[in-house]
Amino acid sequence: MKAFSARDRPKLLSGIAASVALSACGGGGGSSDPTPTPSPSPTPTPTPTPAPVMSLRDVYADHFRIGAAIGPAQVTNGSPDLALLQRHFSSITAENVMKPAYLAPSPGVYTFDDADALVDWATTNNHHVRGHALVWYQETPNYFFDGSPSDVRSRLENYITEVMTRYRGRVQAWDVVNEVVADFDSSTSPYRNSNWYQAAGGPDYIEWALRAARAADPDARLFINEYNTELPEKRARFMTVIRQLLDKGVPLDGIGHQCHIDRTTKAGDVLDAIDAVDVLNAGLENHVTELDMTVYNDSALCYSDGINCAPAYTNGAPAEALISQARTYRNLFNGLKARPSVTSVTSWGVCDDQSWLNHFPVERENFPLLFDRQRNPKPAFHAITDPAYVITQ
Ligand code: GLA
Repeated sequence: MKAFSARDRPKLLSGIAASVALSACGGGGGSSDPTPTPSPSPTPTPTPTPAPVMSLRDVYADHFRIGAAIGPAQVTNGSPDLALLQRHFSSITAENVMKPAYLAPSPGVYTFDDADALVDWATTNNHHVRGHALVWYQETPNYFFDGSPSDVRSRLENYITEVMTRYRGRVQAWDVVNEVVADFDSSTSPYRNSNWYQAAGGPDYIEWALRAARAADPDARLFINEYNTELPEKRARFMTVIRQLLDKGVPLDGIGHQCHIDRTTKAGDVLDAIDAVDVLNAGLENHVTELDMTVYNDSALCYSDGINCAPAYTNGAPAEALISQARTYRNLFNGLKARPSVTSVTSWGVCDDQSWLNHFPVERENFPLLFDRQRNPKPAFHAITDPAYVITQ
C-alpha cells in the first residue's frame, strides 16, 4: 500500500488541528454563574463545500474528446447512465458488441442489433464512435482462421468491408488491429505469436486489415491499438511495428494506447509513449483508448497466474488509495492536454461497479474509474476537472 507522502502530512495535520480547534471553541461552557442558563446549541461542524461538478467533456473540449466504453443497455430509455454519458462524454466505444465474436458469430451470419443501438444513440446524441475492434486474437470465432493464408485474407477483407461499410460516416475511428505486439522477445517478435499470425503465415494480416479498412471507409481514422505502451520494452517493440507499417506505406492514422494502469504508474511513462509517436513526425494522432486505474498494487504473477494478488479492500477503497489515484489521474491529464496529438481519451467504463477489473485478474471489488458505485464523481474526477481542487480534501 502506498503511504501518504511527506508532502501530504502538513496538510493532513493542519486539517486535524483545525477541526480540534473548532470543536474546542464550540461548547462555550465553563461559567461560574449559578443561574442555570439554557445550554447553547452546539456549534454545527462545518461541512466542506462540495466540489463543483464540472462537465468533463467541456473542460477538455479544446484538447480532446472524452469517451466511455459502454454496452447497449446503458443507452436504453431509463438507463441511469444516460445523464452521465450526455453531460460528461463526447465519444463512445462498444465495450464488447463490436468484436468479431458478437458481429459475426458463424460464417455468413451477422448480428448487428446491439452495435446498431450504440451507433444510433451516438449519432442522435452527437457523440463520436470509436469502433473496437476489427482484428484481435481474442473474442474471434475459430472459423476466421480456417484454410490457407489466402482464404484467411479474403475472409478478413470481407469482414472488414461488411462491418465498416455498414457504419460508414457514423464511426469516426476504428481500432483496426488490437494487441498484435509480443509481450516478450520471441521468434516472432516484435509480433505476437497469435492465431492470426499463424493463420496468415506471418504478420501480413495487419497490413491486409489496414488496407481493407481504408478502402471500406476512406474517411474513417485507422488505429493500431496496444496495451502496456507505458512499459519501455513493450513500447520499443510497438514502435518497431509502427515504423515497419509506415515504411511500407500502409494506411495508418493513429496510435491507440489502452492505458490499463495502476495508481502508482508514473504519468510520465504514459506520456513517453505519446512522445515516442510524436517524434516519428508522421502526423499520427494519439488516442488513449481504454483508460482505467486499478487501486491495487499487484505483482506480475497476479496478472499472469492470479496468485500473489493484493488483498481485496472489503470496506470500500481507503481514502489514501483514492487520493493517490486522483493524483495520478491529474498528472496524466495535465500531460495529455499539453500534447496536441492527443485527440481522444476514453475511460474503460463509467462507474466503478461496471469495470472488468472487478473480475480480473481475480474477483475483487475495484475502484478504477472516475465515478463511484452510486454514480457520484470521485476525487479523481474533481482532480482532472477542477485545478483548484485540493487532492487531500
Ligand atoms: C483489452 C481489449 C478490450 C477489453 C479489455 C478488457 O484491453 O482491447 O476490448 O476486452 O481487454 O475488458
